[in-house]
Amino acid sequence: MTPRIIATGSALPERIVTNDDLSRKMDTSDEWIRTRTGIRERRISEDDGKEKLLKLSVRAAEAAIAMAEADGAFSREEIGLVLVATCTPDMAFPAMACRLQDALSLPQVAAFDLSLACSGFLAALDTASAYIESGRCRTALVVGGDVMSRMLNWDDRNTAVLFGDGAGAVILSADERFIAACTGGNTAEEKSADEKAADAFRPRFALHSDGGGEAALYCKAMYFNENEPESEHMDGRKVFEFAVRKVPEVIGEVLRLAGTDAEDISLFVLHQANYRIIEAVAKRLKRPIEKFPHNIERCGNTTAGSMPILLDELNREGKLRRGDVLCLSGFGAGLSYGAAVLRW
Ligand code: COA
Repeated sequence: MTPRIIATGSALPERIVTNDDLSRKMDTSDEWIRTRTGIRERRISEDDGKEKLLKLSVRAAEAAIAMAEADGAFSREEIGLVLVATCTPDMAFPAMACRLQDALSLPQVAAFDLSLACSGFLAALDTASAYIESGRCRTALVVGGDVMSRMLNWDDRNTAVLFGDGAGAVILSADERFIAACTGGNTAEEKSADEKAADAFRPRFALHSDGGGEAALYCKAMYFNENEPESEHMDGRKVFEFAVRKVPEVIGEVLRLAGTDAEDISLFVLHQANYRIIEAVAKRLKRPIEKFPHNIERCGNTTAGSMPILLDELNREGKLRRGDVLCLSGFGAGLSYGAAVLRW
């Protein structure tokens, strides 16, 4: 079965924190943050500690479900898998996916979280695709979201200015048209043509971790024990250099897997960590910067939320047309990195 994204949703907290707001709290400036990262403002969650990510995830998932329902004969009863990619769950357990399943009154299907920081959404999308391709389920709800504001040391200007909170959701479903195409033909020739068509629409993924990058990006503990606060630590320059080297490499790998070229990609939806990283990747791939949409200026780095939030914004702005070939790429703690090619 060939999985496709049939609907998207996203949710950002109400509260906007500008660079000037931060410069009143720490030794930084709007000019430094803008020129080094492209960020102008970010959204920071103010909800009750235990429900921060759940609230954002519910809003994002409900928006995606409403879009799927408006688009055709879809019912939430069809969801056969619930995945949440996050490194900032509201509680150690139960998993965010189980709590989301309950909040959305979803069927009693497999629901679990995936933790791979900024690469988490890509890993969850890959997992959901594998479930659908293998026939384990036909439709999956995949949420990526983080409330990094809980993990930040607000006295550390090296990290605090970079992140924002937010969640995005997609509904991934077996594409009926291609199921029909694959089963419609009778002759050997027709069957082979159907298989080729389905194969062309199959999403491809390449996912890696160097496994040795702990020192460059880590957080030792969760914030559940308020007496032992732990915050994120980062070697920004190392992560920057890693991203600029590895993202074009893994995009090249997935393009080869998909049998396509960078020129055929309608849009590159990259993890939003730093606008300068996006520019450097565009340059290395020799593609125009217009092919690299961004929302980092408004959202900052929303960790696992960044790609699905951007996808939802593009979708709702009518910038994604059915049949477009998209390339997604993410990177982060691990150090992990990956890319996907999928047909919209
Ligand atoms: N405001 C003002 N000055 C700041 C600052 C801030 N918010 N944060 C750091 N600085 C200072 C540092 O103290 C340092 O000063 P020093 O040279 O006197 O020691 C200097 O700015 C650092 O400059 P530099 O290392 O040249 O910055 P940079 O161009 O590498 O940009 C990052 C720093 C963090 C923006 C950049 O490295 C980056 O984006 N890295 C990737 C981070 C990332 O994406 N993390 C998430 C991965 S998913």
